[in-house]
Amino acid sequence: MRPLDVFTLNRFYRSLSDRSKMLFHPPFFQTTSNPRWLIHQASLFLSSVDPVKPLLKRVAPSILHTLFIAFFNNRVVGLAYLRRLKKETRSVELGIGVLDEYQGMGIGSSLLSTALNMASKEGKDCVYLMVSCENKRAIAFYKKFGFVIFKRIPRGDTWFEKALDVFEMKLYLKKVFPS
Ligand SMILES: CC(C)(COP(=O)(O)OP(=O)(O)OC[C@H]1O[C@@H](n2cnc3c(N)ncnc32)[C@H](O)[C@@H]1OP(=O)(O)O)[C@@H](O)C(=O)NCCC(=O)NCCS
Repeated sequence: MRPLDVFTLNRFYRSLSDRSKMLFHPPFFQTTSNPRWLIHQASLFLSSVDPVKPLLKRVAPSILHTLFIAFFNNRVVGLAYLRRLKKETRSVELGIGVLDEYQGMGIGSSLLSTALNMASKEGKDCVYLMVSCENKRAIAFYKKFGFVIFKRIPRGDTWFEKALDVFEMKLYLKKVFPS
């Protein structure tokens, strides 16, 4: 990714329907509801600058986002990211979203398998994510890849003051990529 593609990514996010935004709103895209938006944008920008990545990995790994971007006709149509958690060095957080008019075409599957491959190659043990309990489609999608529901977190997320119950789902990579 080139540094200025951060603007392209923001354009991608603005093109999602309101429902998809409710279901997929990573901190770096939450413009109005997150006071730390600028910090997240800066971390996204820094994650896109190749020479900075090794340094970030060492000094502030939780800032570093690994991005997987799906293009169609030079337009960003899907995005997945992996982000290392502060305390758990062997686990990564995953997020994924596809433009509404491109959903159901296999783009999400392709982004997800690429991200899982990368996490496995980097020696991670576990990929985890949060998904709204009402997002049946995404839950089925993740289950197909071997994710299991780990726990339900009542009011674990908010979207414009609406509290959302979420499932934490986990995938143990050793089960999918046995060595
Ligand atoms: C969830 C999401 C990422 C899946 O990406 P996608 O490109 O639509 O998924 P794919 O086309 O690769 O389909 C994979 C699976 O998703 C499910 N799926 C896809 N389209 C579906 C539809 N119209 N109805 C029901 N399930 C569907 C199916 O399980 C499908 O498996 P199949 O191909 O065997 O039927 C995408 O729909 C999305 O961005 N949704 C809105 C944001 C969101 O919910 N993000 C996840 C937040 S945790």
